[in-house]
Amino acid sequence: MTTPKAAHDLCNTAVIGRHTMSDTEALEIASARANLPGGVLGGNALASGTGFVFSHGKGGRFWDTSGNNYIDYVLGSGTLMLGHAHPAIAAAIAEQATRGTHFFAYLNAPAVHLAERMIPYIPCAGRMRFTISGSESTLHAMRLARAFTGKTKILKFEGAYHGAHDYAQVSTSPKQLANFPQPVPDTNGIPEVVRDLTLVAPYNDLDTLRALVEAHRDELAAVIIEPIQRIIHPLPGFLEGVREITAANGVLMIMDEVVTGFRYGLKGAQGYFGVTPDLATYGKVIGSGLPVGAVAGRADIMDQADPGKKGQADYVYQNGTLQGHPLGAAAGHAMLNTVEQPGFYEHLFATADRLRDGLRTIFNRHGMGITVFGEGPMWHMLFTDRVPRNFRDITKSDTKRLAAFDAELLRQGLFVLPGNRRFVSSEHTSDDLQATFEAADRACRIFNA
Ligand SMILES: Cc1ncc(COP(=O)(O)O)c(C=O)c1O
Repeated sequence: MTTPKAAHDLCNTAVIGRHTMSDTEALEIASARANLPGGVLGGNALASGTGFVFSHGKGGRFWDTSGNNYIDYVLGSGTLMLGHAHPAIAAAIAEQATRGTHFFAYLNAPAVHLAERMIPYIPCAGRMRFTISGSESTLHAMRLARAFTGKTKILKFEGAYHGAHDYAQVSTSPKQLANFPQPVPDTNGIPEVVRDLTLVAPYNDLDTLRALVEAHRDELAAVIIEPIQRIIHPLPGFLEGVREITAANGVLMIMDEVVTGFRYGLKGAQGYFGVTPDLATYGKVIGSGLPVGAVAGRADIMDQADPGKKGQADYVYQNGTLQGHPLGAAAGHAMLNTVEQPGFYEHLFATADRLRDGLRTIFNRHGMGITVFGEGPMWHMLFTDRVPRNFRDITKSDTKRLAAFDAELLRQGLFVLPGNRRFVSSEHTSDDLQATFEAADRACRIFNA
């Protein structure tokens, strides 16, 4: 059995300068290291052996099992737009749990009514299907697009992330840059035949996109795009251009709204930018921390998934044990009830503006050479003097320096994932912002010392 001392030695707490680590948390990390690949639940590597075991959260803050608290700008990878343990979400889940947690076949009332409420907000939606994650949503959207067009290839943009399946994991963060449209696999284990079904284009470059789509139109089923690609905003006219080029060439446009959906207003990025794709994919905000995703789109494309067509050539299988999950749907209703309140988005956007303005002032005062950018409830920072327009611009910024500075922010109690985009919740308070500014100020002083 691991002793507390051995667990603390393993965790090597000094490396990231954690203020305290309890025996409980050290033992949990030691246990995770023995039982989980890399000692973690997913893709975020432990910093030199040390991690975090979170126990609970409230609003814009959460706590580890040592009792340290952090102002959270990761927010469950963006799922917690309403913060941790929002009372309306918690109550809705608890109430539904007493009525039954899952039914599977046919229909359940919370899911039926959630679809009925969501569709009018989604400009492209004639119909929708629930899934349980963003990855599932993009997988099914791609399959629906291939079946509908009778073509096999998908074009994505370099640097975009569309989930963890084989069709999506190319050229998200290529270590070596390839000539467009050559895909670079992000992971071992993707068969070459699958990899070669993807074409890759630079974001915010309509000329290259047009040339690629025209050259490959006979084999290209769809272009999939994050309307705000990780931390990069579209240049004026870019999304409109993607829409026009795809439509002109018989190629479908899939807008991946897993991050932007219900975050950039009730109509998501489609409303925010005024561009309507053929299909859109959802995740994150809908379930507010519960596993809910969705594919929505034109009825003629979505109706390929009508199981009444089983056995017909035009049927597309789309199903999953947990989809339309009543607990997730209950959370979705509570989320909509909250964001439909007058002034919700104004408050959320204003909080993010205050955060960006405050950080900019502090970083400028300390001469950090950091550009803070973003729009709406996501914010970003890079050691660069220009806002990036595509993946390659980001690689030109000082990413090592950013990782070191992010580690300092973490030591000061701001929870960020090094290099990743950051989110703001509606529940971050003025006190949280003030504490953030003080922490950022301390981090700059230490960093410059
Ligand atoms: C734009 C986008 N699409 C798809 C996904 C995959 O979603 P999930 O992690 O729920 O599978 C993500 C996850 O971060 C995402 O940001």
